[in-house]
Parts: sequence; structure tokens; C-alpha cells
Amino acid sequence: MSHKKATLLDAERLLHTFIDHDSIQLTSILGIGAYGVVYLGLNILSNRYYAVKLLTHMNISYNEPYIHAYLSGHPNILRFEKIVHEEYRTFMVIEYTPDGDLFAAITQNKYNIVGNNDAIRHVFLQIIDAVQFCHQNNIAHRDLKPENIMLGPQLQVKLADFGLATLNSVSNEFGCGSTFYFSPECQGASASASLSSSSSTQNQPLNGYSTQKNDIWSLGVILINLTAGRNPWKQATMKNSTFATYARNPRHFFRTILPCISEELERILLRIFCLNPARRISLPELRVYIQKCQSFVQPQTMAQHSKKKSLLVVVQPTNKRHNLPHHHHHLPQPKTKKRAVVNTMSYSDSVTETMLHYVGGYTDEDYCY
Ligand SMILES: *[C@@H]1O[C@H](CO)[C@@H](O)[C@H](O)[C@H]1NC(C)=O
Ligand SMILES: *[C@@H]1O[C@H](CO)[C@@H](O)[C@H](O)[C@H]1NC(C)=O
Ligand SMILES: *[C@@H]1O[C@H](CO)[C@@H](O)[C@H](O)[C@H]1NC(C)=O
Repeated sequence: MSHKKATLLDAERLLHTFIDHDSIQLTSILGIGAYGVVYLGLNILSNRYYAVKLLTHMNISYNEPYIHAYLSGHPNILRFEKIVHEEYRTFMVIEYTPDGDLFAAITQNKYNIVGNNDAIRHVFLQIIDAVQFCHQNNIAHRDLKPENIMLGPQLQVKLADFGLATLNSVSNEFGCGSTFYFSPECQGASASASLSSSSSTQNQPLNGYSTQKNDIWSLGVILINLTAGRNPWKQATMKNSTFATYARNPRHFFRTILPCISEELERILLRIFCLNPARRISLPELRVYIQKCQSFVQPQTMAQHSKKKSLLVVVQPTNKRHNLPHHHHHLPQPKTKKRAVVNTMSYSDSVTETMLHYVGGYTDEDYCY
């Protein structure tokens, strides 16, 4: 609390001062976070506004200005203007978007995006294009979320905040990003330790995760937020009963907890939220599916959406995990066997086992639908 106050005071100290040879005045504070402070800057020569980010943790965000500058120029990436060094401070001057970010657009329903097929498609395709551009340049964003997606006129998407972006295709920096959005394999030591505590030595913690596949997972959470105005789970660990329910029996999960989404979208979500990152959908494939998707929302249920909220039942995970050692020698069950449990919310031991093996770095070709 007092720490936050101090930060605000520090941030206020620079208000109304000038940077960049007295050309840009810091006129107000747009935001303060762990990453630093973002000011609204006015270039008094051109009379144009910019977002000016003061980088306070140069160690953590060392790459940020270079990565952002490198990606700048794509229509769906927030424009990077320049880096300004003043004494011992470093500022990034970037494009200012008065229309705000996608988070505000979703929560305040400013542009009627949530549940609106055309708007969802329009926005999400641009997000895919931005992320694909990053990945083509061997950069993973690692903090994809509506708060980092700025909006221009006509709902033009501009991806922002490269503070956690990386050039590493495999990373061992676990828990990087925001809990709602990062993938199960990105959870790191604490989550996988708790999962594998009761099982054999086969379940070693992961050495690293694919940063690009992790980005694709985050896109799935954004897609659900755009369609249903909700998040599927708080965190993709077995500690969260909602996620555990999904991991044990993915089929029909999304339409059970979110009755407003269409079957088409559910099929896409199953390909995105594939627990095995190697089998997770690719961006070009995802783009085609999104283009072809006629309806993200279930037309009939839209009107009854509020009524159906009572269906949002969270099935508590059973203690089957503790039985696991007994099942360890079992081969993965054939697909036909899995289909038998598809219409129930009961858990299949084989799926649980697969999930645990997976978290231990094990991959199961039979897993993804
Ligand atoms: C910043 O990096 C230097 C050198 O790599 C390191 O010694 C220092 O502890 C780091 N500081 C923080 C706050 O991470
Ligand atoms: C999704 O949207 C709602 C607003 O409709 C918001 O409250 C929630 O935090 C969002 N969650 C995620 C994970 O984006
Ligand atoms: C799991 O996620 C759901 C949905 O976000 C949330 O309501 C619930 O509180 C979470 N449970 C735990 C134990 O974190």
C-alpha cells in the first residue's frame, strides 16, 4: 500500500516536465504498474500525443524497447516512436490510442463486441495477425491479454507491451505473464510439483516450455472472453477445480460451463486448449478456423444466457489422483473407450493419468481431439 503510494509520488514528480530536448511534455499519468509508469506525452512542436513509458526495471524489461522497435510498423502492432535516455532514466515513446484497450471495451461493452460474431471475428483475426507477425520474427509476447491489446478507430487492434517478450523459443521462466492466460506447461515448479507429488519418478518437472505455444494458449482465453465475457478458469493448474474438470474430460466442457458458445467454437477451443503443446493448433490453422467459423455464439441460448447461469456448476475434482500409482502400468485407453464417458462429467482415470504424465513432460499422442 505505502509502496504503491511512493511509486505514485515518484511518478508525479516528473509530471509537467519535458523530455527529449524539451520537445515532449509529460502531461498526465495514464497508468502505473510493476513495469513502470506510462505518461501521456504531448509533443509541443507537432501537437501530437504519445504514450511515454518510463522503464524502471531495466533488468527485466531490458529487451522491451529493442523488441518493440523491431516489430513496429505492422498495422496490428502499436507503433514504437523512439527511445529517450535522460540522465539515468530511459523512456519509450510509443503511439497513443485514445480509444483505450480491449479489456475496457469488453468490460464496459463499449463497442458491443462480446457475443457479436462479426466483431469477434474482426478483432480476433487481427490479434492472430499481430501474434503471427511476432512469431515469424522469432519473438513470443508472453503476456497476451485484453489489457495489452489497444484499439484504434474501427476496432483496429494494436498489440502492446513487450515487457515480457522473448527471443527464446523455449523458456524456463515459468509463471511468466498473467495467471488467467498462461498455459499449464508455463505454470512452473509449484504447480507441477503438487501434481506429481503422489506419482512416480516418471513425472519430472518440465525443463522449459515453448513460448510460442504458450502464446497460442493465451489467445484461447482471449477468444472466450470476447465471446462469453468470462474466463474459463482462474489458472490452468489442477489446483483449480474448473481446470481440473477440463483436463480430465475436455469434451463438452466449454459448452457446459459457457452454454452461450457454439459447437463450432467449442471444436476450435479444444484444438487451442490442447494440453500437449506439440499438438496445439498452429496460428495459420487457427486463422482459417476463425475465418470459417459462422457463429461463435449459440443463437438460441443467447436470449436465455442469463437464465442459464445456474448451469455454471463447478464439478469438484475427486481424489482419484491418489489412486494413480495403481493405474500406472495401464496403457492409454483406446479412443472408443474414452467416447463412452463423453457425455458425463465423471473423470476417466486414463485422462487424469495422461494429464499427470503430460505435466511430467510425457506426451500422449492419443490425447487431443
Ligand atoms: C540486474 O542485473 C545485474 C547484472 O546482471 C544483477 O547483478 C542485478 O542483481 C540485477 N538487478 C535486479 C533488480 O534484478
Ligand atoms: C473477461 O471479461 C470480463 C468482463 O466481461 C472480465 O470481468 C474478466 O476479468 C475477463 N477475464 C479475462 C480472463 O479476460
Ligand atoms: C477456478 O477458476 C474458476 C473460474 O475462474 C473460479 O471461479 C474458481 O474460484 C477457481 N478455483 C480456485 C480454487 O482457484
